[in-house]
Amino acid sequence: MPAEVARIGLLGSGTVGSAFRDLVAERAEAIAGAAGRTPEITGVLRRTEGNFERILEDSEIVVELIGGTDPAREYVMRALQAGRHVVTANKQLIAQFGDELFDAARESGVQLRFEAAVAGVVPVIRVIQESLAATEITKVFGIVNGTTNFILSEMTSTGASYADALARAQELGYAEADPTEDVEGTDAAAKMAILARLAFGVPVALDDVSYQGITEIQPDDIAYAKELGLSLKLLGIAERRDGGLSVRVFPCFLYPRHPLAPVEGPFNAVMVEAPTITEITMSGPGAGGVETASAVLGDVFSILSGRAPVHAARESLEIVRDISSSFYLHLEVADRPGVLAQIADVLGRSGVSVRSVVQRGLGDDARLVMVMHEGPEARFFEALEGIALLDFLRSQPRAIRVIEEEFV
Ligand SMILES: NC(=O)c1ccc[n+]([C@@H]2O[C@H](COP(=O)([O-])OP(=O)(O)OC[C@H]3O[C@@H](n4cnc5c(N)ncnc54)[C@H](OP(=O)(O)O)[C@@H]3O)[C@@H](O)[C@H]2O)c1
Repeated sequence: MPAEVARIGLLGSGTVGSAFRDLVAERAEAIAGAAGRTPEITGVLRRTEGNFERILEDSEIVVELIGGTDPAREYVMRALQAGRHVVTANKQLIAQFGDELFDAARESGVQLRFEAAVAGVVPVIRVIQESLAATEITKVFGIVNGTTNFILSEMTSTGASYADALARAQELGYAEADPTEDVEGTDAAAKMAILARLAFGVPVALDDVSYQGITEIQPDDIAYAKELGLSLKLLGIAERRDGGLSVRVFPCFLYPRHPLAPVEGPFNAVMVEAPTITEITMSGPGAGGVETASAVLGDVFSILSGRAPVHAARESLEIVRDISSSFYLHLEVADRPGVLAQIADVLGRSGVSVRSVVQRGLGDDARLVMVMHEGPEARFFEALEGIALLDFLRSQPRAIRVIEEEFV
């Protein structure tokens, strides 16, 4: 007897949606064998095709692959309220309207799944919500934006400027024509807000995430850091810190043995830390139509096989903003005696201590490259303001965070 059909309404049939249609056709029989139901797309909505009301009426699972929040928010809410399970790849929707959508799913007793919204194919959401559901997670962090990781890798391997590396990423289809969300860090911030909410049971709004992008990175920062054995990544971190929760995105240097240091190109990698598991690292392609569609189909499969995600117990953790970090500091200075002593004096007055210093170039090319020991960020930024006022500086100081942890 043929397996019963599971009716899927598909909203959006662009890059991911059309790959999803192909994948459903290709994998339907295998899924029927494993989950006992045959997935079938029974309605498709595009700008020029289909009718939402009819698709909603005729489906038991709604897959949202339109993107953005309007009209996706309304469609997803309507589907949940009508008792349909929903699968989406839409990070902005979950990051901005997660609360109301999770509430609606709970009230209707249906699932809202969104594995493809964070870290591409890397199954980090399933791992947090299922494998680690009973674990007290202390930190989730990683490279969650493939576009910026490609740009930084390109700058590192070829010495290209930020603008040239971005142009290359656009040429290869790794960056969109308008790359703002990726390069300014807002895409990664939305993903970290989602991960923080899942790992710590705290509703994290986009405003709770402090973020910085990669547009100010200069090739010589990367070149000098290479000499110090450091590699540059745009990192998202969500962690329990000082009795609260800190969620942030920033470019930073990693020491060579760090598990994220070798992650190159348009890849994503996420690490989870907890006392009982030490740490785990997951990595894989960060985007792509087929890859994303495969994560969406994984969510559909989970629904068909009757698995429900576990939501972390709600905690009340305050958002902590002033935390401790280590910094790299790049200063273009006049080549004259006493310069280093004056900089050390400003740093010392703010309680910032220097871990290493390298002097490079002579005359008009003289510069100092310093790495600080970890300390409160507020004190470092206070020192930075003082350094910027010194009359021998030839340009604005450039500071980039450094992750000091070394992994063995
Ligand atoms: N592309 C990736 O690699 C990737 C990776 C991870 C996550 N995602 C996420 O996946 C989702 C889909 O991305 P995509 O790249 O597939 O987008 P896309 O290629 O732009 O496709 C969007 C689809 O939605 C339809 N659509 C747009 N506005 C609509 C409206 N008002 N009413 C009905 N249909 C509408 C479009 O219709 P027409 O066909 O008529 O234009 C198109 O079929 C987004 O949330 C994105 O962030 C994408």
